[in-house]
Amino acid sequence: MMDSDGFQLVSKKKAARRKYFKNPDATLHSPQETVNESLKKILRAKDALQSSQGYTDFINSLKKIDNHVQDICDSSLIQDHKISGIVCYGIGLPSCSRIARYQTALLLILKDRLSVSVEVYDPVFTSVDIEVLENFGLKILIKNEEGKRKVKGVTIFFMPHCGKELYNNLLWANWNPAFLPMCVIIGNSFSSIVQNVPGSILKCSYQFIYKTESLCKEYRLKSLVEYDDVFNDLSIHILPREIAYSKAKDFWLQRTEPQYEGCDVEIVRKKY
Ligand SMILES: C[S@@+](CC[C@H](N)C(=O)[O-])C[C@H]1O[C@@H](n2cnc3c(N)ncnc32)[C@H](O)[C@@H]1O
Repeated sequence: MMDSDGFQLVSKKKAARRKYFKNPDATLHSPQETVNESLKKILRAKDALQSSQGYTDFINSLKKIDNHVQDICDSSLIQDHKISGIVCYGIGLPSCSRIARYQTALLLILKDRLSVSVEVYDPVFTSVDIEVLENFGLKILIKNEEGKRKVKGVTIFFMPHCGKELYNNLLWANWNPAFLPMCVIIGNSFSSIVQNVPGSILKCSYQFIYKTESLCKEYRLKSLVEYDDVFNDLSIHILPREIAYSKAKDFWLQRTEPQYEGCDVEIVRKKY
């Protein structure tokens, strides 16, 4: 289904036919590049994305986010009509992985277009990755937040191919009709997750993804590169404020912190 701007809104049925993609080679990397080599490759990747066929569509999709931000700011007490920042979890290793390099390139494009600060965290970062990302002006988080960032203003979460727990934790941390719409999530398609993970597991362990999926608008990212493992199965998820407020109070009151006992957890937890 196309929306009024000609952008592809994910149809739930269509998503059902798509196979849920769990990145098969997330742990397979090439040898680590030097800082300079990595910087050059990321800049080349950025150029490639900006001259790709799908780039105009991607930029148009950012207008969806702009409209959403405008809507939130108009209807709440936020004076500043802008995005507070970008938080990126789980980008992987830009110094070793082609996928992470292209995803970093897209993150830099987002940073440039939205003119906001970017915080990044992945527990696997090496000192080379940190130097590379800092060179691009990104702030490296030291603490493992397990995705439980409570937002204070509209925040873009760039979480390409992250484990379900990270999305679920983020939704839990902001489980409130005022705050959840302030989380714009670019990550694995929630409709794919809901279609492909058994209902009993979803309802028991990933209930925040399960509940959000039926409320949010999901815009599928089209591929910007020749490789099908870089931006596959990623969507922009936006939860309109009026939909959040249309839910009864009870819906928001059920917010026990997720534990994932007995689950095959896909994230690194913080050490106490
Ligand atoms: C499937 S990989 C995706 C990597 C890359 N984005 C890609 O598409 O290939 C999931 C990533 O999430 C990271 N991750 C695991 N626990 C995390 C946490 N608590 N916070 C942030 N990232 C985490 C992993 O280290 C890994 O790099």
